[in-house]
Amino acid sequence: MSSTIESVLHENRHFPPSAEFAAKARVSGMEAYHALCRQAAEDYEGFWAGLARERLSWKRPFTQVLDESNAPFYSWFADGELNVSYNCLDRHLPELANKLAIIFESDNGTVTRVTYAELHRKVCQLANGLKSLGITKGDRVLVYMPMSIEAVVAMQACARIGAIHSVVFGGFSAKSVNERIIDAKARLVITANSGVRGGKIVALKDTVDEALAMGGCESVERVVVFKRVLHEDGPWTLGRDIWWHDLVAKQPEVCEPTWVLADDPLFILYTSGSTGKPKGVQHSSAGYLLGAVNSMLWTFDYKPDDVFWCTADVGWITGHTYVAYGPLAVGATQVIFEGVPTYPDAGRFWKMIEEHRVTTFYTAPTAIRSLIKLGGELPKQYNLSSLRLLGSVGEPINPEAWIWYHEVVGGGRCPIVDTWWQTETGGHMITPLPGAVATKPGSCTFPLPGIMADVVDEAGEPVELGKGGILVIKRPFPSQVRTLWGDPERFKKSYFPEEFNGKYYLAGDSANRDAEGYFWIMGRIDDVLNVSGHRLGTMEIESALVANPQVAEAAVVGRPDAIKGESVVAFVVLKGARPSGAEAKALVAELRDWVAKEIGAIAKPDDIRFGDNLPKTRSGKIMRRLLRAIAKGESITQDTSTLENPAILTQLQEAN
Ligand code: PRX
Repeated sequence: MSSTIESVLHENRHFPPSAEFAAKARVSGMEAYHALCRQAAEDYEGFWAGLARERLSWKRPFTQVLDESNAPFYSWFADGELNVSYNCLDRHLPELANKLAIIFESDNGTVTRVTYAELHRKVCQLANGLKSLGITKGDRVLVYMPMSIEAVVAMQACARIGAIHSVVFGGFSAKSVNERIIDAKARLVITANSGVRGGKIVALKDTVDEALAMGGCESVERVVVFKRVLHEDGPWTLGRDIWWHDLVAKQPEVCEPTWVLADDPLFILYTSGSTGKPKGVQHSSAGYLLGAVNSMLWTFDYKPDDVFWCTADVGWITGHTYVAYGPLAVGATQVIFEGVPTYPDAGRFWKMIEEHRVTTFYTAPTAIRSLIKLGGELPKQYNLSSLRLLGSVGEPINPEAWIWYHEVVGGGRCPIVDTWWQTETGGHMITPLPGAVATKPGSCTFPLPGIMADVVDEAGEPVELGKGGILVIKRPFPSQVRTLWGDPERFKKSYFPEEFNGKYYLAGDSANRDAEGYFWIMGRIDDVLNVSGHRLGTMEIESALVANPQVAEAAVVGRPDAIKGESVVAFVVLKGARPSGAEAKALVAELRDWVAKEIGAIAKPDDIRFGDNLPKTRSGKIMRRLLRAIAKGESITQDTSTLENPAILTQLQEAN
């Protein structure tokens, strides 16, 4: 990662917004951007309160703004009452009832369109259905759905009745579903009989059945199943399972929203941290939604005639904020896509942009890199002239990919917003305002107005420009994580450590600011990997490996990867003898499948090496920097004098 940054930091090309783009932008020119930042600096609470009043619809207006009395459990707009689903649907109906809310394209290309009025009806009916099953405010509902209109309906229906959703990405395993049900004590699961991705059926309901059979899920009373695909279904548990279409069939088309307090949880989303157990990031209702709306307006410069398309799955934070909530909260028309970018071929994205006249396209560098590899010329076969703005998210974008995105996809005319943020921040934090900031390939540029980001040293002191350091946010902001579900201590320790007086929000990334103050993200400083824009904890994968009866010990590190950003490399010590040849090959395949079953296919190690033991210091600490060097195939030039067992290095360097 740091070598990429070295090269990236020599990147000095500037791409200012065109005069035409800037003239129409909501925030036009740097002076306007600086004015917003000044406003926030001079009257921090007034700035946020003004936005919250102007951009959200409240049932009961708030009188309090930021409450820091129980830091770091900050509270925003505490006595205000609202409903997120009302803000995403009802408030648009007087003017936008017949506007398209969602253009859904399925894996095989079938297109379904719903207007705001239709979406409102669907959400109300499901919300009433959930109520009829006894689900009320504060109950947890686990959502395990394919990308679909119904995935959004499920999330919005929970929001409508004040239930807290916990969406689990459809690629995660039964074990992961089981753990998340137990941690959140979910009362209900919403799933589909199957999903379809790249022509393949993904049997979601079967996975839910398996998860529930693993035990510990007594909290789950009902499983609501959307019939996505017509095929022979697996077993049906009478009294527990209920078809979605049966549940909503006789429900009224109107459902009065349940008004909630600003800080009442909207959802929990599990993400990887530096221990084996995923963290249940808990977001608020009002502050989170404000972050979503602000970034739709600021970062994406939302215009009423836009067709917005964020390619992320609703199982990730990007799909929460920029599929399920943000676009609807501003009354946008958005595209939702069920499939994968390479099916039936690597022109799928470009074909869809042409057909749906997409104006704003938001995807991940890993997708861009794989599409360059599979068909760098393909975009030229499509009419992409509807595009006016491009976005990137999830990992640093290398300048080559940036330039290709800009030239070949954006025709040289679309600004690129490289958006740095995290599950925990709820919405964008550091990103260009496209009508103001001159972008540089590989830099996420400047913080949004009101976001007090800085780069500091280990003592929490600001570092000079050009010197790398730790990325922190110095003031609480409305869309920030409120706590970790059921684990407030871990929340404090993870994000507000003592080293920074417990005051700064520690993002877990390192960053550098160049001579002009532009931010460049350098990567994680904890044991978290970023594989294809997805967060994976090394400890999580290690725990999964060690859970295999044949494995005694495992250490996992990241290796730079041209397409995925990082790939997973595992060093494994077995309880039995170290295998070689065909036996080792078979065991590698077995352990890869094991990890897929324990966590999900995205966590499968790309490379597994067996050793008699692992390189450790005399005090027993695994020397990961040596493992990282071995994973990269580098010769070891580092100091190994503290190593207990130097001979092991040669063994691990050899392929099995
Ligand atoms: O390391 C940063 C990287 O992704 C991490 C957050 O991962 P997650 O919570 O899964 O959210 C991903 C989608 C927001 C960050 O700590 N990251 C995210 N966006 C960028 C990035 N790194 C560099 N540039 C970005 N634009």
